[in-house]
Amino acid sequence: MVPRHLTLALLAAAAPAMALGASLDAVVGRALFERNWVSAPSSTQSDDGLGPLYDAPSCASCHQQRPPEDFDETTVQPGTIIRLGNARGAGDPAYGNQLQTRGVSGQTPEANPDIVWNVKDGRRAASITLYSQGFGALAQDTKMALRRAPVLDGTGLLAQVPESEILKQAQAQKRKGNGIGIAGELPWVTVNGKRVLGRFGWRATSLDLKAQIAMAFSRDIGLSTKAHPDPFGDCTARETACRAGPHGAKTGEVEIPDSMIDLIVKHLESLEPAAPKQNAAEALFNRTGCAECHATLHLADGTPVKAYTDLLLHRLGPELDDGIGEGAAAPGQWRTAPLWNVAKSLKIGGLLHDGRARSVAEAVEWHGGEAAPARARFKALNAADREALAAFVSGL
Ligand code: HEC
Ligand code: HEC
Repeated sequence: MVPRHLTLALLAAAAPAMALGASLDAVVGRALFERNWVSAPSSTQSDDGLGPLYDAPSCASCHQQRPPEDFDETTVQPGTIIRLGNARGAGDPAYGNQLQTRGVSGQTPEANPDIVWNVKDGRRAASITLYSQGFGALAQDTKMALRRAPVLDGTGLLAQVPESEILKQAQAQKRKGNGIGIAGELPWVTVNGKRVLGRFGWRATSLDLKAQIAMAFSRDIGLSTKAHPDPFGDCTARETACRAGPHGAKTGEVEIPDSMIDLIVKHLESLEPAAPKQNAAEALFNRTGCAECHATLHLADGTPVKAYTDLLLHRLGPELDDGIGEGAAAPGQWRTAPLWNVAKSLKIGGLLHDGRARSVAEAVEWHGGEAAPARARFKALNAADREALAAFVSGL
């Protein structure tokens, strides 16, 4: 159960949305999504236990869907985190799977990163330098790379796509075989000894919204859940001060009960994707081969889900390979990014997993590997068609 004092506070904050007819659960879930967690022990006597190390105090602070005020080409979009890992999929022995750049009172953040965008031949790419590293150098084989916070509209619908539909996409690509050079791989992950398809995150590492939310609480905010019971989140054994730091749960309990995660799922399910657009350029998109990966999926009852993804992993070539393995994804493999939030994403920052691409055309320029033939066809279009295709995708 969500503690009573917390429910009342959340309901007070949620009253205006309820007046608009949203479901009670979704409204409380939204208040939890927007809630700024604070360090334990706190004067409000709630079950908080932010950190000890963390990246942001709330879901909304990273997934806010408003354009930042002072945004320009040199800014890193809010909500971007630094992923750490090696090619085999292991995190750094000292810093873990993600760099935590903030700490509660008395804690030293892991490092102070400086991120610089370099533009070469019209394409932007990031370089990251770490200052004030708290635990010495990264392991020799640890790589670091940016991950931007995706727009979450429609994730509830993607969660409903049956596994059989994703399997069908993989089979269809296999049948076409070398004819198109596209061979999406199924993002199998093992959960409690069972093989299931991953679907959320840039590498499809989380099998459902609950798993993704529990991961976010652990790595991004530093709060424990049943799935990630350590109250110190991503802190490793070498980070002794973090492990000894303040926590919000009694021994044997977790800071965030499943009931709260369920409410946040309800909020995410209420974030509907923009309505599908009728646009003549969609035929061009299909003919150019974009739709081989950016496909339409279907729910069990046949309802189309125009997310423009096959939810499979594809090799997009060395230029998008950051040397990090995650879940089922080998270095260089990415889940086909859904395109139904491109318009919103462009308003708050850039495209691709790290936000490097400032436009659809720039994103296509980075499409190598299995997508190289589609990129070549895109570039071979006449200027008017190329612009129409890019404008169609930019408006999704
Ligand atoms: C510090 C910033 C940050 C915070 C805080 C944060 N997220 Fe995220 N979120 C991200 C990033 C970055 C990704 C992509 C991660 C990846 O794939 O490696 C992501 C991915 C997701 C996804 C997957 C979306 C998709 O299309 O696959 C969901 C759902 C999500 N977050 C929900 C939440 C919720 C709910 C919370 C609060 C409990 C939260 N996030 C807190 C940054 C954040
Ligand atoms: C072989 C599969 C494949 C093909 C073909 C393909 N894409 Fe992609 N696309 C991907 C993957 C995988 C990503 C995610 C890459 C990343 O985040 O680094 C992606 C990402 C994108 C993005 C960024 C979306 C976002 O929200 O960040 C855009 C825009 C895009 N593709 C447009 C296109 C267009 C236009 C075409 C046709 C010219 C195309 N793609 C063809 C697999 C493909």
